[in-house]
Amino acid sequence: MDLFDAIEGRRSIRKYKEESLDENTIMKIIEAAIWAPSASNLQPWHFTAILNRDIIKRIRSFSPGMFRENPPCIIVLSLNKNIIKAQGEGMGNDNVFDLAMAAQNMMLSAYSLGLGSCIKLSFNREAVKKLIDLKEGFEPEFLITIGYPDEIPEPPGRRDIKEVLNVVR
Ligand SMILES: Cc1cc2nc3c(=O)[nH]c(=O)nc-3n(C[C@H](O)[C@H](O)[C@H](O)COP(=O)(O)O)c2cc1C
Repeated sequence: MDLFDAIEGRRSIRKYKEESLDENTIMKIIEAAIWAPSASNLQPWHFTAILNRDIIKRIRSFSPGMFRENPPCIIVLSLNKNIIKAQGEGMGNDNVFDLAMAAQNMMLSAYSLGLGSCIKLSFNREAVKKLIDLKEGFEPEFLITIGYPDEIPEPPGRRDIKEVLNVVR
């Protein structure tokens, strides 16, 4: 798939088919994630792939905006603050950018494999942390739902390039 077609064609999917994902597919998506750039190449990320339908149901039950969604897979993107601390780097929020880079790689690779996805910022971090038993120093920052799409959403509009680009010559 052409990269620009993937960038334009990827949509946030909020309705999925029942079909499950196999673990090889998840490995491919995580492989794409770990090739993302990160500040000082710290790679301070950690991924929890949840395929268990009961756990997914529980996450949905405390995530506003996901109540009516039915993904067969949720990947929790966490910051590994232990890595950041060990490298003596600042503990600001900057490392969340690294996770965002990984997230886009994941969503584009999912799309290229015929899957839909949606990144979620709106979820209960403490509840997810407890539910998946994250270790000390690991902080969930995003969820990504993934599955076979059961909808073709209209592309939400984009600001015109003339509004957002200024070329300085
Ligand atoms: C940082 C971030 C947080 C988001 N959080 C949510 C969310 O909590 N729930 C949701 O349904 N979509 C969420 N989205 C998806 C956006 O709504 C979506 O990307 C946007 O409307 C554009 O649609 P598109 O992804 O189909 O191009 C989030 C996107 C980003 C980048």
